[in-house]
Amino acid sequence: MADLDDVQETKNYYTDVPQETEGFFLKGSNSYDWGMKNRLSRIFNPRSGKTVMLAFDHGYFQGPTTGLERIDLNIVPLAPYADTLMLTRGILRSNIPPSLTNSIVMRASGGPSILKELSNEDIAVSIEDSIRLNAAAMAVQVFIGGENESQSVLNMTKLVDQGTRYGIPTLAVTAVGKDMVRDAKYFRLATRMCAELGAHYVKTYYVEEGFDTVTSCCPVPIVIAGGKKLPELDALKMAYNAIQQGAAGVDMGRNIFQSEAPIAMIQAVRAVVHDNETPDKALDLYNTLRTS
Ligand code: R5P
Repeated sequence: MADLDDVQETKNYYTDVPQETEGFFLKGSNSYDWGMKNRLSRIFNPRSGKTVMLAFDHGYFQGPTTGLERIDLNIVPLAPYADTLMLTRGILRSNIPPSLTNSIVMRASGGPSILKELSNEDIAVSIEDSIRLNAAAMAVQVFIGGENESQSVLNMTKLVDQGTRYGIPTLAVTAVGKDMVRDAKYFRLATRMCAELGAHYVKTYYVEEGFDTVTSCCPVPIVIAGGKKLPELDALKMAYNAIQQGAAGVDMGRNIFQSEAPIAMIQAVRAVVHDNETPDKALDLYNTLRTS
């Protein structure tokens, strides 16, 4: 029975303090529902507004590439330094301890291998499985200008529709075919199309000329892929330049897990992304950490 004798009367209603309604920190994302914003806040750190996503989904079309031969040995030790893990559901279930609390961005498209036409992808994970695996976002490859451009764009819009039903954001990954020019004009087109058609954030590549125009006219956050392995200083410069020119983070794979000292490298990348550290200072950090 409820205890009615000792109920204290509430006295302070703070009638002179209006309840604040804070704006959401992420570009273009203020109109989403609570669950979607909460998932995005687990990918992008609300303090810095940025993310370090560790990408190791490469096996979904190219098998065990260099550095990804053993996820348990090569990748799991890096997880504490990443905001988000970008991976396939097969690797998540087989190799990633459920006790890890990183947010998960699930590779949700697939089909062809490197032996075939890569743009011929389909949606490869059901929305139910993404929910079951507690995904914070789903990632889909979009091949603007590619042989199967429309098919890949429609994969993305279908995922956006499915994810929106359950509050799960979609990351559009702009994939550049072998014959396409990687310049700001192309990436303005690709990223803007993805955003216009509903992607909640977009992954693209950094370009030396005009990257700020790519971020400026994309209405949702952009993160950059790392691309092929570069010398550590060059990779840190690329991340630094991208952040200074409006990127909201990195989705970096090979430049971390193929580094000679991956744990040191991911911490150096974090310093650039979250703390605006300069590439030279971040390289000093890398060198200190790798020898300690
Ligand atoms: C490639 O298609 C995958 O989606 C990777 O996640 C992406 O390319 C980022 O990895 P990296 O930094 O190695 O390019």
